[in-house]
Amino acid sequence: MDKSQIDHLSSWFDGYVEPFLATDAEAAKNIRLKIEHTRKVCEAMAQLSSGENLSENESIIASAVALLHDVGRFPQYRRWRTFRDSESDNHARLAIDVIRTEQVLAGVDHSEQLLIEEAIRFHNLLEPPATIKSPTRRFINLIRDADKLDIWRVFVELLAQPPEERATAATLGLPDLPGIVSDNCIVALNSGAVVRLDTTTCINDFKLLQISWVYDLTSASSRRILLERGYIPALAATLPERPDIREAVTRALNFLSA
Ligand SMILES: [Fe+2]
Repeated sequence: MDKSQIDHLSSWFDGYVEPFLATDAEAAKNIRLKIEHTRKVCEAMAQLSSGENLSENESIIASAVALLHDVGRFPQYRRWRTFRDSESDNHARLAIDVIRTEQVLAGVDHSEQLLIEEAIRFHNLLEPPATIKSPTRRFINLIRDADKLDIWRVFVELLAQPPEERATAATLGLPDLPGIVSDNCIVALNSGAVVRLDTTTCINDFKLLQISWVYDLTSASSRRILLERGYIPALAATLPERPDIREAVTRALNFLSA
């Protein structure tokens, strides 16, 4: 791929998402959130590409993965009005459908098309299959990290807003119950594991899940950027004051800065 193909993809993206905004106010807010997310994931990806010393060609492929990784979110929200895959369809698979139906990668080298599709296909799995080898593995790791870096931003910004102004689908419909936290989520975080989405019952659990992602980052650059951005202390500051939570958060922060 070359630079002009990325510019072309970027214009395609703008044209593709535009019609999804012609909807009611709540839906438009959720769609705008994903458009902005995509742009910010592209920025995080550029930071990671330079931090991890990618070649120019690798950086271009990484940009394409970032730009396209969530295109499935738009048809997903239009059809089901949710970003919860378990209540609709796998948004990574939907993204591949969009890429193929719209022939977004026509003209791109076949092996590069495959690389981009594979990275997108596995970007949202709890754990990508161990059998996947480089170079696909590299792009999967990059998009998973860039995606998380921006999901943290979205969530931290959202928590700073009054509940009635929040984009509803961003918190996956979880109730905001101040003071409530599930013990099993705290235990998971404190054991250095990634908290599973299907064990979360409220927004505080979801914060623990997001803090636990520190254990899932794949590169020193991602960990450095996360530390610089300060998202983990920002999330932790909104959790109930409890010794077991403080211990689990401290452990995550120590891991990050080690
Ligand atoms: Fe994403």
